[in-house]
Amino acid sequence: MEKRIVVLPGDGIGPEVTGEAVRLLGAVGERFGHRFEFQFAKIGGAAIDETGVPLPDETLRACLASDAVLLGAVGGPRWDRLPGPQRPEAGLLKLRKALGVYANLRPITVHAPLAGASTLKPEVVEGVDFVIVRELTGGLYFGAKERRQGEHGVEVTDTLVYTEQEVERILRLGFELARQRRRHLTSVDKANVLESSRLWREIAERLAPEYPDVTLTHLLVDNAAMQLVKNPRQFDVIVTENMFGDILSDEAAMITGSIGLLPSASLGSGGPGLYEPIHGSAPDIAGQGLANPLATFASVAMMLDYGFGLAEEAAAVRRAIAEVLSEGWRTADIAAGGPAISTEQMGEKVRNALR
Ligand code: IPM
Ligand code: MG
Repeated sequence: MEKRIVVLPGDGIGPEVTGEAVRLLGAVGERFGHRFEFQFAKIGGAAIDETGVPLPDETLRACLASDAVLLGAVGGPRWDRLPGPQRPEAGLLKLRKALGVYANLRPITVHAPLAGASTLKPEVVEGVDFVIVRELTGGLYFGAKERRQGEHGVEVTDTLVYTEQEVERILRLGFELARQRRRHLTSVDKANVLESSRLWREIAERLAPEYPDVTLTHLLVDNAAMQLVKNPRQFDVIVTENMFGDILSDEAAMITGSIGLLPSASLGSGGPGLYEPIHGSAPDIAGQGLANPLATFASVAMMLDYGFGLAEEAAAVRRAIAEVLSEGWRTADIAAGGPAISTEQMGEKVRNALR
């Protein structure tokens, strides 16, 4: 199989983790006889420094014409003073919107040998295995924003807009995914306060009879935040809107011990998907070989699986990750003060395990 992958290293630790991911894909290609062609392009702060904008047209064109996009991370203190639309993050949001990737899947799995790496008790986190389905191209992130001078000083507005169609398609995806797993869907909203959440809940109820094999539970987002640390094993698939999904997925990441382990896939209706670790640019450790590449490797597995239909290859990557962890190899973020290996060394371990 031949595939064209656009790699967007971005900022901070992005170049280190995507660099290792490209080498891993090379190893996958060798072992299974595929040809992956890579095209590198700029996004985020790196693009701002070179072109003045966070998502150059050239980058967007390359992404739209690709089979899949692999992204490292965007953002950093150097660009924090820029106005909203010129920030590195705006480039990522624009890319998500342009690719139409409305569904962001964030699997939260605790690797057995790492149960002790979480700040939560091992007996609470052992066996945790759920997926957050986050709506990615609507809501507060994309509604009109305004800042004006009012009677009492500055006034600001962020608008939360959702259409029935946007809510229905993401909820359907949640139901479908639950059907392939343990058949439990938790829909998270704030229906006691927000009109958008009331529509969300209505639509979830309306769809439920079409999925009689799936048990639907509604949770208010504040309660969901509490349940995630109280008893995370209760979850199978969580579906929620953009902002709630952003917040809950960082919280959920800590169940696994490190945000450096968690991948994501952003999918739309047929075009190239966007695959990225959820950890962000971590400017404090950038360029030191301290970053954990496993989240990006797991994102590569999602790319192979959802993007290219290469389930066997994806499973081989996941197995290689699991093997290296069970052999005791750790990057600093999961070493709990013990001996740690570098980003590159971790990359090499996983490539060897794959071969
Ligand atoms: C994420 C990130 C992004 C988001 C930022 C970088 C815009 O936090 O992917 O979770 O809020 O979606
Ligand atoms: Mg986030």
